[in-house]
Amino acid sequence: AVRPITAPAIRAQKGQTPIACLTAYTTPMAQVVDKHCDLVLVGDSVGMVLHGLPDTLGVTMDMIIMHGKAVRRGLKRALMVIDMPFGTYEESPEIAFRNAARLMQDTGAGAVKLEGGVAMAPTIAYLTQRAIPVMAHIGLTPQSVNTIGGYKVKGRGIEAQAILADAQAVAEAGAFAVVIEKVPDILARRITAEIDIPTIGIGASAACDGQILVVDDMLGMFAEFKPKFVKRYAELGTDADAAIARYAQEVKSRAFPSAEHIFGDAPASVVSS
Ligand code: KIV
Ligand code: NA
Repeated sequence: AVRPITAPAIRAQKGQTPIACLTAYTTPMAQVVDKHCDLVLVGDSVGMVLHGLPDTLGVTMDMIIMHGKAVRRGLKRALMVIDMPFGTYEESPEIAFRNAARLMQDTGAGAVKLEGGVAMAPTIAYLTQRAIPVMAHIGLTPQSVNTIGGYKVKGRGIEAQAILADAQAVAEAGAFAVVIEKVPDILARRITAEIDIPTIGIGASAACDGQILVVDDMLGMFAEFKPKFVKRYAELGTDADAAIARYAQEVKSRAFPSAEHIFGDAPASVVSS
């Protein structure tokens, strides 16, 4: 049997081969990602990508748990990390522990991810000291869209110092890895060189210890908008549009179903004309 990848194993990959990560929200997609990637994130991006929400704030424990269970069934090898939804961890380390434990127990995830640097370091320490591996997420943190005022690049100019402090704080608190989202290349490089845990970039730097993308973005399935950092490896949304248009047209013209898709009757048919 294949040995599953653990959070400590991801941490140990720092300075070795780059860590390939993607999100997944369903069993079939998890099966494909599992074949090729080291880490699968059940991201709260699911709210926007699959549920049509305007941002990630409306994602609930029940939603992420349902997707987490589906993803778990598709994994054999990759480490499964699940996002802590907005409002489930910020208030206190104790509340964070209760919700993180529930996420892991209900879904079988091997780690949780939460957004925040210096402010969340005590919570990260509390969880990691109590058997819950934590992946941190700094730079652009989408759950803070209302206080940031948009999804712009973080860490330009003097703000770089604060992001560097965030990176150091989460590493010292015991996070096994840190996602760095939408910061200048030079800052992500510096952080990667200065901290001893893997940096997982998204709109960050090729120098990061790993990369992550939202799977629906890189497959061209989520077409609402395309951030600069998304590289489209397929155009499945366009393919789906063409396929569905053809299907509807063939139904209307009675071209579908044809002989190969329909069943013949038994020789001594009881159906008479
Ligand atoms: O929710 C998500 O998909 C994420 C990744 C983009 C890092 O947090
Ligand atoms: Na997220």
